[in-house]
Amino acid sequence: MRALKATVLLLLFLCCIRAKKMRWCTVSDPEQRKCAELAKALVAALPPAAVAAYARLSCIRASSTTDCIDKIRANRADVVTLDAGEVYSAVKQFGLVAVAKEIYRDGGCILSVAVVRNSSLDVRSLQGLRSCHSGVKWTAGWSLPIGFLLSRNYLSWSKEHPLSQDVSAFFSASCIPGAGAMAPPLCALCQGQKSYVRQRNYHCETSHSEPFYNGPGALRCLRSGAGDVAFVDHLALESIEESEKEEFRLLCTDGTQAPLNQYRKCNLGRGPGGGTVTRFNFRKIARKFLVTAQMLFGQKGRERQRFQLFNSTLFGENDLLFKDATEKLAVLPDDMDVIQVLGLDYVALLKGLGHEGSSLEDSVIRWCCISYAEQKKCEQWALNIKSDPLVCVKANSMSDCVEKIKRDEVDAVSLDATHTFIAGKCGLVPVVSEYYGQKCIPAEGTTHLETDVLPSVVGVAVAKRASRSIFIGNLGGRRSCHGHMYGPAGWLLPYRHNLSLEHNSSSPCDPNKVYNEVFWKGCLPGSQGNLCKVCMGGTGEAATKRCADNHNERYYGNMGALRCLVGDPSGKSIGDVAFLEQQNLEANILSLSSSGWAEGWKSEDFELLCSDGSRAPLSEWESCNMGVIPPNTVMTRPVLTARVYDFLMKSQETLAANPNSDFKLFESQQYEESDLLFRDATQCLVHTSHMDYRTILGEEFYSHVETVFNCTHSDLLELCGQDVCTIF
Ligand SMILES: *[C@@H]1O[C@H](CO)[C@@H](O)[C@H](O)[C@H]1NC(C)=O
Ligand SMILES: *[C@@H]1O[C@H](CO)[C@@H](O)[C@H](O)[C@H]1NC(C)=O
Ligand SMILES: *[C@@H]1O[C@H](CO)[C@@H](O)[C@H](O)[C@H]1NC(C)=O
Ligand SMILES: *[C@@H]1O[C@H](CO)[C@@H](O)[C@H](O)[C@H]1NC(C)=O
Ligand SMILES: *[C@@H]1O[C@H](CO)[C@@H](O)[C@H](O)[C@H]1NC(C)=O
Repeated sequence: MRALKATVLLLLFLCCIRAKKMRWCTVSDPEQRKCAELAKALVAALPPAAVAAYARLSCIRASSTTDCIDKIRANRADVVTLDAGEVYSAVKQFGLVAVAKEIYRDGGCILSVAVVRNSSLDVRSLQGLRSCHSGVKWTAGWSLPIGFLLSRNYLSWSKEHPLSQDVSAFFSASCIPGAGAMAPPLCALCQGQKSYVRQRNYHCETSHSEPFYNGPGALRCLRSGAGDVAFVDHLALESIEESEKEEFRLLCTDGTQAPLNQYRKCNLGRGPGGGTVTRFNFRKIARKFLVTAQMLFGQKGRERQRFQLFNSTLFGENDLLFKDATEKLAVLPDDMDVIQVLGLDYVALLKGLGHEGSSLEDSVIRWCCISYAEQKKCEQWALNIKSDPLVCVKANSMSDCVEKIKRDEVDAVSLDATHTFIAGKCGLVPVVSEYYGQKCIPAEGTTHLETDVLPSVVGVAVAKRASRSIFIGNLGGRRSCHGHMYGPAGWLLPYRHNLSLEHNSSSPCDPNKVYNEVFWKGCLPGSQGNLCKVCMGGTGEAATKRCADNHNERYYGNMGALRCLVGDPSGKSIGDVAFLEQQNLEANILSLSSSGWAEGWKSEDFELLCSDGSRAPLSEWESCNMGVIPPNTVMTRPVLTARVYDFLMKSQETLAANPNSDFKLFESQQYEESDLLFRDATQCLVHTSHMDYRTILGEEFYSHVETVFNCTHSDLLELCGQDVCTIF
């Protein structure tokens, strides 16, 4: 009995010591040697009890990083460091967890650079060249450059087959380690040993035994003359000898070239650096191990003379176990989601590239709709086009649309100028802008209007003609109607005027504060408190509580602010002044009667309030307004710009070819609303993806919005301001 007990105890003891042994997965002989040296150094540097408890290391040789992931899943190895693209797959597809992230001298991110030796190459004409890439689905070698080429439409992806097929048709030949299974031409330039035995095949594997593997390897591919261009991370540039640097140039996005040291300005995008993964139930031991190893052998390790964790020189290769440029490891807390580790933008990019395999979703465009009425119109739109399928996704507000696009839950939406600013700060980019005023007449030989001169609209303040005592300067204690939260006409412009005696333009710069101080109550959909008091909510299918930030709230938008001003259908007076956009005001006044909201209102029953305190008829908006508003712009994630543009142009063509169709993209009256999906004043959509959002908004408007958001809180801007490259 006692003997049995002792045996059980001994077994338990052995099991638990065994469980604490770390099995590091290596992909080459040099890496295996470095790992073995680390194991020895740990034994030499730590007391035996500590080694036994958490620092016993063994090294498991695998044939590639994919093989490592398989081995870790199968409990035949425990830990490996991977490129962020592989970290994402390991976590999302294979259930592993990230326990640490590499931090480099300038933060947790890497820049993707395109390196060439031929001075006549440019990023706009890469088609047909021979390419070298650090690794397939790697951040700097694949996702960022391919995402860039797609966003500029230099590379097109038909979506009928996997992206790898279009990439292999784009370059004449490539070496993209890890791509063997995807398309043979993607491996044509690789030089590793070929074998039908998996463990002995190094050709095109993610292993140092493939000479063109990883960043330094892709540069070797370029240097040897095998390739014309190498896509690598900026840290790999350090592997180029100082004396050689003159021979290489970077390709910049504007079509120019730059010397290697200009990578901060001349790159194809920024993404997360590498990370260490393990199985879920091994994460605590792995963290403890990494903390110890770093404390002893990291850049500031006290046993550095014995072993250097982030230096591979002695083993004759680069980036063994970790990238050599690693300054330190950020050990990640337990509750950190992979999106927090890698960043929303990066994860959305990977989804956009079909990183997890293609799905039905790849060929549809998901449009953001913020109300029941928009949803109905969007569904009609979907039925009336012959391009890619359109799916209408519901959100709560324009801001919610921006967040959903960022999270890859929807693809595109047309935003007012203030929300375009927010979306731009959140990393979204323009596709087209709405074009107002004149008819859209394309230049000879083209199908779409192309212009960089974008007509604007103006915001106005409107009162009933009968309310004689209402003027700008005398609005203290009145009831106000504002289109919507953060909207240019209802929110951004009015506070800068001398609304009341107490409030003059030297007062605070937070519009919400100003309106709360000046007005007695009002309806500003999306706000809180007194400025929700006169909102009325929605009924029936559009049922919502009052003050919702979308058209379900009957006082939302240009039509809503007008309803708020004339009073509810029973004739009860609600508002004294409405801040709205001028362009469709007269049509909206007419539709008050036709929609049965209120009978008998005509343009003459309203007057504009000018900023000098005078009043004027509605027709004098050019001299009597609250300010100019740049056009609404369709925004999306960068990788989708070409697709969304293509979708909108095809959609526009189909609709133009059927002028007798009941469906009109730029009308909303049949839904008894205004400005659903697009402003009703839109004549056509013009290409703006070659401009940045700041140019579209114009410097004056941009700096006004920036000033306001410098003293107004926005949850969304705060969310978007979190930068994974600097938070670790
Ligand atoms: C450089 O690139 C140009 C354009 O692709 C090509 O015509 C030329 O032969 C290349 N020069 C060298 C030295 O490879
Ligand atoms: C890496 O190790 C080698 C050999 O020990 C040494 O000469 C070199 O200075 C080290 N590099 C760095 C960046 O510490
Ligand atoms: C507001 O009033 C101040 C002081 O009376 C004046 O200087 C300023 O020009 C006015 N601002 C506007 C927009 O009318
Ligand atoms: C501007 O507002 C401040 C604070 O409300 C007030 O003290 C000041 O007299 C106002 N200035 C003018 C010119 O009306
Ligand atoms: C807003 O704040 C940012 C950061 O503090 C600053 O760089 C910028 O100049 C400010 N912009 C304006 C218009 O005040």
